[in-house]
Amino acid sequence: MSFFDYFLWVFFPYIALTIFVVGHIFRYNNDQFGWSAKSSEFLEKGKLKWGSLLFHWGIVFVFFGHVAGILIPKFLYDVIGISEDMYHFGAVWFGGAAGVATVIGGAILFYRRTSIKRVRINSSFSDYFSLIVLGVVVLVGFTNTVGYTASGGSFDYRTTIGPWFRGLLTFTPQPELVAFAPIGFQLHILAAFALFAIWPFTRLVHVWSLPLEYLWRRYIIFRKMGPAQVEKKN
Ligand code: HEM
Repeated sequence: MSFFDYFLWVFFPYIALTIFVVGHIFRYNNDQFGWSAKSSEFLEKGKLKWGSLLFHWGIVFVFFGHVAGILIPKFLYDVIGISEDMYHFGAVWFGGAAGVATVIGGAILFYRRTSIKRVRINSSFSDYFSLIVLGVVVLVGFTNTVGYTASGGSFDYRTTIGPWFRGLLTFTPQPELVAFAPIGFQLHILAAFALFAIWPFTRLVHVWSLPLEYLWRRYIIFRKMGPAQVEKKN
């Protein structure tokens, strides 16, 4: 293991995660009014609707796919009787479908931001930069699923990348588990950590503002005032 391996698979991830945490605290304390996705719906609606729906639904399932493949240890699947074949089937078909939705949705959003003048001129450098880094992470990840996992590749990320990632979170990193992974997986991971490092300084912070209270909040009913109510009010 060279110093470069340690840099890529230990130092760089920790530097990125530190920027991620400290950056969010800094941004939250200094820029609460700017903490949003800066909606551009009033500039263009049609493409946003399809792009946003596909991308967001896709990425939610991709997220749960990562929890299933990276965070949950393989032995737990053995314990509950989910075989290698069953896992592989889910990763390829359900993961593939989520990946397709994410890639198509992301492509529509990218096209919209670059081709529609009023959206383009209302976009900042950070909007483009985050979209491009996100695009690289998603495209390279999807290429791995299609070009490797679904095509019979023998590298098992559940016994290599998974334990390496969990080791980072428990401060017991094992860079040797990922230093010899196929290049596509390595590029995906490095791009993902680059994304984590820029995350707090971009519109991606809106991910943490999920309006979950809408799920249990009581309905607010808006009604037009009729003449009787207007008179009563006055
Ligand atoms: C360091 C963190 C990450 C690790 C270790 C990781 C690992 C992986 C692995 C191993 C795959 C291949 C899955 C398969 O072939 O079944 C994959 C696919 C993918 N990843 Fe990641 N990933 C990370 C972060 C991210 C992030 C931050 C995003 C997007 C925001 C992302 C988006 C994707 C996508 C779209 C796919 C294709 C999955 C599909 O088709 O369902 N990944 N990732």
